[in-house]
Amino acid sequence: MVMIPSFLSRSCRRHRPQRGNPKQLIALSLSVVLSCGGRPFSSSSVQALNTVVITGTTRTEGPPRPILGPRVAQYIRQRLEHRGHTVTAVLDPLELNLPLLEKPHFAYAPSQVPPQLEEIATLLEQADAYVTITPEFNHAPSPGLVNILNHFGSSKFSFKPSAIVTYSAGQWGGTRAAQGLRPILSELGCLPVSAMIHIPNVHQVLDTDGTVLESSSQNQNEKWDSYSDRCFSQLEWWAQAASNQRQLVDPFQVSPAFLQNPSQRNAP
Ligand SMILES: Cc1cc2nc3c(=O)[nH]c(=O)nc-3n(C[C@H](O)[C@H](O)[C@H](O)COP(=O)(O)O)c2cc1C
Repeated sequence: MVMIPSFLSRSCRRHRPQRGNPKQLIALSLSVVLSCGGRPFSSSSVQALNTVVITGTTRTEGPPRPILGPRVAQYIRQRLEHRGHTVTAVLDPLELNLPLLEKPHFAYAPSQVPPQLEEIATLLEQADAYVTITPEFNHAPSPGLVNILNHFGSSKFSFKPSAIVTYSAGQWGGTRAAQGLRPILSELGCLPVSAMIHIPNVHQVLDTDGTVLESSSQNQNEKWDSYSDRCFSQLEWWAQAASNQRQLVDPFQVSPAFLQNPSQRNAP
């Protein structure tokens, strides 16, 4: 059974790249540029994105501290929706309850893929961008988050951007976990944008409903929103650029997915 909350909208636009001959692609490229006054797209218009959020915590009880992940997920979801985006799914390792990797999606014959994996794969494929949220466990990203990622091949993620959100109950906000997550997302082809969101002492920053707590510091709310907006504006820029380019050139024709053997990546 697929444990993706049913209230989440799944009305996603497909971003199937258009195939065509080079002349048609050049013509399409020119029409995109010309229709925007010579610029590829307007900096003032932000395209609404279908985002998939993938969370990390699998803890069910404290100590240390209560479970803090849900409030971070709420805050991030609120910010994405505030910016006009759709969160098509929140993939929560505790709810999905995938086994510790036994057989990834890409290892099944197409007709044999378990329905749960297929449904997640479709959500990942249809997304414009990904937002990963992880606590820091022993200076590393959560194994629950990594386990979800490991179930799917790069063809589900690649040529789209991702954002890294980390948090901890301590003062470093999960920055070390972020460093561990970067190469994983890069390998999957959903390159993480440079601006990240790190939330230290998260129990003092966010309330249980994801709102920013008032504190001694003035304009705390605005400061956090501005901080997270920097990351999301980068995500939007890259997602829109990637979407435009996917319409012009099929990335999987230029760089086909490895389907046979990992040695296909090897240097000659
Ligand atoms: C196994 C384990 C390892 C942890 N390692 C770190 C760590 O390396 N750095 C850190 O800042 N906090 C660490 N913490 C504290 C977490 O930041 C804190 O428990 C946080 O609330 C975890 O997120 P969660 O509540 O969503 O599960 C660790 C907690 C656990 C349970």
